[in-house]
Amino acid sequence: MESSSTPLFHEIFKPYNEIPEEYKVPEIHQREYLLNGELVAWSGDVQEIYSPVCIPTENGPQRKLLGSVPNIGPKEAMEVLDACVKAYDNGLGEWPTMSVEGRIKCMQKFVYLMIQQRDVIIRLLMWEIGKTLGDSTKEFDRTVDYINQTIDALKDLDRESSRFQQAEGTIAQIRRAPLGVVLSMGPFNYPLNEIFTTLIPALIMGNTILFKLPKHGVLAHYPLLNAFKEAFPKGTVNTLYGKGSEIITPIMESGKVNVLAFIGSSKVANGLKKLHPKVNRLRAILSLDAKNAAIVTKNANLDVAVNECILGSLSFNGQRCTALKLIFVQKDVAEAFTQKLTAAVAAMKPGLPWEKDVKITPLPEVNKPPYLKECIDDAKSKGAKVLNENGGFNEASFFFPAVVYPVNSDMKLYHEEQFGPVIPVVPFESIDEPIEYQVNADHGMQVSIFSEDPLEVSKLIDPFVNLVSRVNINCQAQRGPDVFPFTGRKDSAEGTLSVFDALRSFSIRSLVAAKVTESNKNLLNTIVRDHDSNFLSTDYIF
Ligand code: G3H
Repeated sequence: MESSSTPLFHEIFKPYNEIPEEYKVPEIHQREYLLNGELVAWSGDVQEIYSPVCIPTENGPQRKLLGSVPNIGPKEAMEVLDACVKAYDNGLGEWPTMSVEGRIKCMQKFVYLMIQQRDVIIRLLMWEIGKTLGDSTKEFDRTVDYINQTIDALKDLDRESSRFQQAEGTIAQIRRAPLGVVLSMGPFNYPLNEIFTTLIPALIMGNTILFKLPKHGVLAHYPLLNAFKEAFPKGTVNTLYGKGSEIITPIMESGKVNVLAFIGSSKVANGLKKLHPKVNRLRAILSLDAKNAAIVTKNANLDVAVNECILGSLSFNGQRCTALKLIFVQKDVAEAFTQKLTAAVAAMKPGLPWEKDVKITPLPEVNKPPYLKECIDDAKSKGAKVLNENGGFNEASFFFPAVVYPVNSDMKLYHEEQFGPVIPVVPFESIDEPIEYQVNADHGMQVSIFSEDPLEVSKLIDPFVNLVSRVNINCQAQRGPDVFPFTGRKDSAEGTLSVFDALRSFSIRSLVAAKVTESNKNLLNTIVRDHDSNFLSTDYIF
């Protein structure tokens, strides 16, 4: 629904010479990848990387070329796997047998080197995925905080394990030990943060890592390859670039991957798991589909609800797994709510990621604008309207948010995870209707309830805590704080992540046990006193 005021929208993309120098990045043509502690030269096939930021040309806006990365094939992928398997060496390698204190020191060196690359990584995030300057900065800083918090959590865990326990005449020391080779794959929307929330805990627990870079946000990792190389023993972290179907399939089929850490769709995750010849040997930590609902009742503070629904549905253009992707509003307040919502959307500034106060930016996925348009057309053909001026306006990679109303269960937008700037609003009479939606949904990550009535909120909390994994009251859905558990039911997740939970997810308890006899007590005391074992130790990490 483009209106007469749209000319402004055609000025989103600027000639390259009008982009401030401080935000530009030179083209990066990466011709190396990390294998067995070396940056190995690559002269084969490459994949070009384009920005969601377009440059105006005679033929309309064209995505800016940012550079290129290796497109390694199955042969090289298997060499990467072999290096990882060798570094783990059935748990006998340098990294898995290193003391916790030693691993922490390596990780501290990595964070130190990572921070040196802060500025270039933030700029690359803006160019590669179109994330605003504020959010790209937050993504980098939050990731550094996450690593530091992980180090602290491991120290606590180690302190708790630095003692013997005695029960029924048996004395034991119980610690968490690594699982083996971890294949880490993550999404484009948080190419640094989400990947590191699995890769870093997996690494610090003594596992070795096969790191498959995301499609968008791949160059943002290039400045970190040297940090991985310098900070960890060779083969501990190895990188994979290329088509998942060509390189990940043989890796999974080898049966040598012990943990699949994957953030993406449940369809792809299920396909990957099935490739492993011994499924019982594969642990999976997955963060998958979600279509989190907001429920705005007639007792809601509508200003709070609108504010949070805007944040929830349009932060990073709605490209968050935790985004609010369907808004239920009670009919009594539907008109007032949608009016406030459309006014709030109209106030959102579109533009390029580094521009001041910008909220809506171009989308990295080439097929996303046509898909969103298809969803809107489907809803329109079944009786819905786009309520806001310019809603659904599209030019090249830019797509202005659309508030679609009234949405019902016959429409794609009711069921599919749009992962983009479209806000479907569903009117309802009884609170049983949004509960019914969640009961029938294939996913179960989070819900946001908006109401000021304690009894009504209670009536919604009780069913929803058993349908999703986090019930948010009068606020948007979100992952943070990172010390809180992040998980989901049904097709939304497998395993739980938080700073502390991730350390558990990527390890297994192992214990050394002996009967309490004088000779065993002497034996264990001598081992501990002489520091002969990295596992059996009562050292306290300060
Ligand atoms: O895409 C999913 C992210 O983990 C969401 O994190 O809620 O902090 O934006 P966030």
